[in-house]
Amino acid sequence: MNRLAVYPGSFDPVTNGHVNLIRRAASIFNPLVVAVATNVKKLDCFTREDRIEMLRAVTADIPGVRIDAFEGLLVDYVARTGARIVVRGLRAMSDFEFEFQMAHMNHKLAPGVETVFLVTGADEFFISSSVVREIASMGGNVAGLVPDIVRERLEARFPKT
Ligand code: PNS
Repeated sequence: MNRLAVYPGSFDPVTNGHVNLIRRAASIFNPLVVAVATNVKKLDCFTREDRIEMLRAVTADIPGVRIDAFEGLLVDYVARTGARIVVRGLRAMSDFEFEFQMAHMNHKLAPGVETVFLVTGADEFFISSSVVREIASMGGNVAGLVPDIVRERLEARFPKT
């Protein structure tokens, strides 16, 4: 298979789990557009520009990956790109309900769009951006959870007093 797909997410910040998924998805779909959602209800830790910059840096060596951002509905963005496939990662059962609803809702809104799930890497299934943010904000060590460049940005964002 060699076709366009969109991998959307908040990526606030990008974690090692995301990078693992991007690497594997990019070996199946080409180009793979990693799309930063900028209007999610969550409180931002990093700006859209920071998130894009970090994603660009940590995926620079992965062929076929493009980084983009979108506002509004995912299905509208996907239609603008011309893609028919949305890629999402599944960590555990706790992700399933939200992902199941989102996949069905997106399919209802745009019947031509299919969501393809990849299971998260065995070494990263316990990592989430929100847990990484919490650890970093409390001065904890996030080495091994995020790429080094992201760790450095988190350390600058949450300086130890
Ligand atoms: O990394 P996340 O926070 O799990 O990503 C969730 C995201 C951004 C993919 C989802 O919230 C989304 O698609 N937001 C865009 C708005 C939208 O289309 N909402 C309807 C989803 S059914």
